Amino acid sequence: MTFVVTENCILCKYTDCVEVCPVDCFYEGPNFLAIDPDECIDCALCVPECPANAIYADDEVPKGQEVFIKLNEELAQKWPNITEKKEPLPDAEKWDGVEGKIQYLKQ
Ligand code: SF4
Ligand code: F3S
Repeated sequence: MTFVVTENCILCKYTDCVEVCPVDCFYEGPNFLAIDPDECIDCALCVPECPANAIYADDEVPKGQEVFIKLNEELAQKWPNITEKKEPLPDAEKWDGVEGKIQYLKQ
C-alpha cells in the first residue's frame, strides 16, 4: 500500500503535506506533488494536513482518479524532492475543488 496525491492538488500545491512526512517522500513538479510509493511508509500523517483533501490511500482513491496511482509512481522518479512548505500557487483558492484539473497537469 501507499498514499497517493490526486487531482485536487493540481494548480493548488499547498505543500503542507511535506512538512509532516517522516520519510520525506514528496516530489515537486510545476503544479502538483507526487509521493514515491517505494518510500511511503503508510503513516497517513499527510492526509489531514492537505487543505485540498487531495491525499488518499491507494485503495481509497476516488473513482475515476485511479490514473494518479501510476502518475505518482512515475513523477516521483523524475521530480526533485521537497521537504519544506512553501507558498501555495497564486490561484490555489480559486482552483480548489474544480473538477477535471488533470488536463492542466504539467509533467
Ligand atoms: Fe509520507 Fe506518511 Fe504521507 Fe506516506 S503517508 S507520504 S510516509 S506522510
Ligand atoms: Fe498538494 Fe495538498 Fe500537498 S494540495 S501539495 S497534496 S498539501
